[in-house]
Amino acid sequence: TYIIAEPCVDLLDKACIEECPVDCIYEGNRMLYIHPDECVDCGACEPVCPVEAIFYEDDVPEQWKDFTDANYRFFDDLGSPGGASKVGKIDADAAFVAALPPKET
Ligand code: F3S
Ligand code: F3S
Repeated sequence: TYIIAEPCVDLLDKACIEECPVDCIYEGNRMLYIHPDECVDCGACEPVCPVEAIFYEDDVPEQWKDFTDANYRFFDDLGSPGGASKVGKIDADAAFVAALPPKET
């Protein structure tokens, strides 16, 4: 799977959503999350993020490793909805992300 990391927090540019052929990028309160089981590793989202927040799972920079777990944890309650657009914005974040200090924007 691909993983969204720290640069997305409190920015949520959403350019990535348009590119995903399987609609597996879900919106939380403070960032977006890629569904690890629904992502087909096409990689289309990665180059369009203006702040380079998206990485292949094995390539997530060391300082952002917690975001890999956060992307998985976000779906613990949601399961596999099979499409982000029909779900819409989700009033939640992974616990790790919710606890981050607010970012200056
Ligand atoms: Fe976030 Fe980049 Fe997508 S900022 S919403 S990962 S385009
Ligand atoms: Fe979609 Fe990006 Fe995966 S475009 S299929 S989330 S690599």
